[in-house]
This record gives sequence, structure tokens and C-alpha cells, in this order.
Amino acid sequence: MNKSSQNDKYFSDHDYDGIKELNNPSPYWVLFLFLGTIGFSLFYLVHYFGYPDNGMDQISEYNKQMTMAGKQADQHPSEAGAAFVMDKEQMEKGAKLYSEKGCIACHGLKGEGNAIGPNLTDKFWIHGCKPADLVKVITEGVPEKGMTPFKSMMTDVQINSVSAYILGTLAGSNPPNAKANQGIECK
Ligand code: HEC
Repeated sequence: MNKSSQNDKYFSDHDYDGIKELNNPSPYWVLFLFLGTIGFSLFYLVHYFGYPDNGMDQISEYNKQMTMAGKQADQHPSEAGAAFVMDKEQMEKGAKLYSEKGCIACHGLKGEGNAIGPNLTDKFWIHGCKPADLVKVITEGVPEKGMTPFKSMMTDVQINSVSAYILGTLAGSNPPNAKANQGIECK
């Protein structure tokens, strides 16, 4: 082994049967990046897979998403506050549905009510004052009192339209032959 001082500068002192290794370290910024990725991988591993019960691992995320999706599906759009718009278009659609779906038979041509169903034009409501109550009665019906559940015959959007028609057009319209008040007065 006869290293010149010149060689010392370029070779490391690793010597494998006369084969020498160049001393050529990577620049500090590359080293820094490299160590950084190792540090990040440790953080990532612990945070997203290892730390018990922090809810960040994939299974917990998946379960969270599924429960959220389930809740959204259960929620009626109008109960969620969306989609219940009482504009002219909705009311016109609702008016058509009101005759097409046979509401007329039990609530009268103008919502005045008849021997079967209550008046839908007065301020008195049997099942509550909120628009959501209306939607619920139409959706679930009151089978024991003769009100058909419409959830299998109408979409949520259609039920919203017909509710918009009742609240926006029929309510307060004061038709002839109106049936007497039933239920509680809503302001
Ligand atoms: C087979 C007869 C029948 C049909 C068809 C019918 N209803 Fe009814 N509806 C009733 C009866 C009876 C009640 C009263 C239920 C009660 O006393 O609890 C009622 C109640 C309601 C109420 C609640 C009224 C209140 O005072 O709270 C709404 C709203 C309503 N119906 C809307 C509709 C709409 C909209 C349709 C058509 C899509 C429809 N109904 C079709 C018989 C009917």
C-alpha cells in the first residue's frame, strides 16, 4: 500500500484487496433531502397507520365516509334544508302532480277538502306547521286515517314540488265549499 498524499485527498481509506474507493460524498443538500424523506416517512407511518385509534388510518376513514353517506341517504332533502324551493316552476309542477297523483280525489280540486281528506287551504294543519311536516305526511302517509303514503309513488323531488304547490298556491286561497278547520292553527 503506497498512498501518495495526492491520493489521500480523493480516496477513502477503504481498501479491498487493492481496490480502492473514491471519497466522493454527496453534497449536503442531497443528504439533507434524503434524511428529510426518512423523517417524513416515519411521521407518515405513525400518523396514518401506527398511532392507535387516532381515526386517520384507511379503515377508519372508510368507515367514516360510509356512515356519512348513510346519513345523507336517510335525510330527506327538504328536511336537510335543500331542494324545497317555492318558486313558480315548482308550484306549476306541483299543480300537475296534485291532479296526476290523485290528491284531488281526497282533498278536492282546489284543496278545499271533502268527506275523506282535510282542507289544505286553511291555516289549520293536523300534522304540524313546518314545511317538513307536510313533506313527511305526504311521504309516510297516515294509513290509519286514509292518507296514502306516497314515498313509493313519487320521488322526493316530486313530493317537494307538490308541497310547494300546497303551501305556495293552495294555502290561503279560500276556495268555495271549504271543509271546516281541523287540527291546530298555524301562524
Ligand atoms: C285516499 C285519500 C287521500 C289521497 C289520495 C291523498 N290524501 Fe292527503 N290526506 C288524506 C286524509 C284522510 C288525511 C288526514 C289524515 C289525518 O287525519 O291524520 C290527509 C292528510 C294530508 C295532509 C296533511 C294535512 C294536515 O292537516 O296536516 C297533506 C299535506 C296531504 N294529505 C297531502 C296530500 C297530497 C299532496 C296528496 C297527493 C299526492 C294526497 N294528500 C292524497 C287522504 C288522502
